[in-house]
Amino acid sequence: MDLKDEINRRRTFAIISHPDAGKTTLTEKLLLFGGAIHIAGAVKSNKIKKTATSDWMEIEKQRGISVATSVMGFEYKDYKINILDTPGHQDFAEDTFRTLTAVDSVIIVIDSAKGVETQTRKLMQVCRMRKTPVMVFINKMDREGKDPFDLLDEVESELGIHVRPLSWPINSGASFKGVYNIHQTSLNLYTPNKQTVSETIAFNDLNSKELEDFVGERDAAKLRDDLELIEGVYSEFDVNQYLAGDLAPVFFGSALNTFGVKELLDCFVEIAPSPRPVETLERTVNPYEPAFSGFVFKIHANMDPNHRSCIAFVKICSGKFERNVNYKHIRHGKMMKFSAPTCFMAQKKETVDEAYAGDIVGLPDTGNFKIGDSLTAGENIHFKGLPSFSPEMFKYIENADPMKQKQLQKGIDQLMDEGVAQLFVNQFNGRKIIGTVGQLQFEVIQYRLLHEYGAQCKWEPIHLYKACWIESDDAAELENFKKRKYQYMAKDKEGRDVFLADSNYVLQMAQSDFKNIKFHFTSEF
Ligand code: G4P
Repeated sequence: MDLKDEINRRRTFAIISHPDAGKTTLTEKLLLFGGAIHIAGAVKSNKIKKTATSDWMEIEKQRGISVATSVMGFEYKDYKINILDTPGHQDFAEDTFRTLTAVDSVIIVIDSAKGVETQTRKLMQVCRMRKTPVMVFINKMDREGKDPFDLLDEVESELGIHVRPLSWPINSGASFKGVYNIHQTSLNLYTPNKQTVSETIAFNDLNSKELEDFVGERDAAKLRDDLELIEGVYSEFDVNQYLAGDLAPVFFGSALNTFGVKELLDCFVEIAPSPRPVETLERTVNPYEPAFSGFVFKIHANMDPNHRSCIAFVKICSGKFERNVNYKHIRHGKMMKFSAPTCFMAQKKETVDEAYAGDIVGLPDTGNFKIGDSLTAGENIHFKGLPSFSPEMFKYIENADPMKQKQLQKGIDQLMDEGVAQLFVNQFNGRKIIGTVGQLQFEVIQYRLLHEYGAQCKWEPIHLYKACWIESDDAAELENFKKRKYQYMAKDKEGRDVFLADSNYVLQMAQSDFKNIKFHFTSEF
């Protein structure tokens, strides 16, 4: 197979959802269809149970599981599918944002009873920013849920994307009879079964009397009415609108009962994009370029504290990656080769000799990489699109063991390179501030500093509303601002200027007083 065919058959995506909507279950069923696993129940949920937010064993367990399930590759029909896992717990949302920069499309799972929930809304913002094509799977149709038309309206208004149903449910809950697959014009009758696929009947003529035989008179009439309404309200499905990130096709089913999943997967491989061009600071990189290039979007530290090694996850953006070939680490300006790159098939990590654009390779590393690093065959290009978002919680980090100052410093540096949280150094008093998305990250940092670096930290409160990156074309005004706000100025890890606003009011005042300064809430602008 030539390079182009290899790349064209790749589908790299993430499943996102609010916790408990059914992401793990759907992932597992997709793997089942791909023959990558053979029994249901083989994929462990990587979520930290709500009751155990402070249970360290849970966090460690999660780290152990999540390396195995970080990427799940499998073959389906003629396609190579890579599912990128995203952490379930909202305190690790930043990790999920970064993972979304490495996918070419997304499947959103929604619980039919709960509709669109907060976490989904936040993640969709990132998809919208990047124009990532999304498909929606409305799950748990075997339970009483919201009306499907209401759900579609909710998705449209809450997620800010047009929708087009490609399958349609016949009832829900106890009287759920199945779905009509609009895309393939077939009827899929529901028989609850956790392991196997239920019956699909080709059905081109909805007016055929046979429909009554399968679903009964009342439901047949309702289905015909619903479909007529759908054809009237929604325009024809246009794959280009989907690829542009403007339109989400919607499927209904029950992941737990392996129902509606094959339809989703079949449509997905057919229409989801193969690897797309990626922007760098210098130029757009086309996936079919033969020269390898890629970027690090995730770093996973080793579980064994005695060996400070980690795995850097690289998304291949162009060409072919080969084992034992020299590649350039752009930030360090040095050549490196990798004797044991791994790829992820099903839940196994295997050494690979080659991988293609769209694939993810895991590179064993001893601290050379940080999130966002570019790796190429030699060309000096820098991949963009791994922004940090303004954190939501802030604390001063202080040394609690004066003998271990060095260890603490090293630990903080490496954890920040891994993207665990963000570090800001206050320019006024030199104190270090850690910004996170949730409380759990502070606990993880403290725990890992102690167990991996032998350093002890303590947290001290600081009241901050937002950290924003500032810039201006007006150098004098920028200087003036920094002088006036010197107590609130900090530098991020890259040395960029950050304004620490302690209230919304202060931020608004600053914005109105300094019209020539731009305040950004993500680090990339
Ligand atoms: P998540 O990864 O999105 O957090 O969700 P997960 O797949 O773990 O599913 C959350 C719960 O919802 C699980 O139940 C799962 O069995 C259930 N579930 C998933 N899909 C369906 C479906 O189509 N119908 C119904 N009725 N339930 C579904 P749990 O009791 O929390 O966990 P478990 O003990 O069953 O693993």
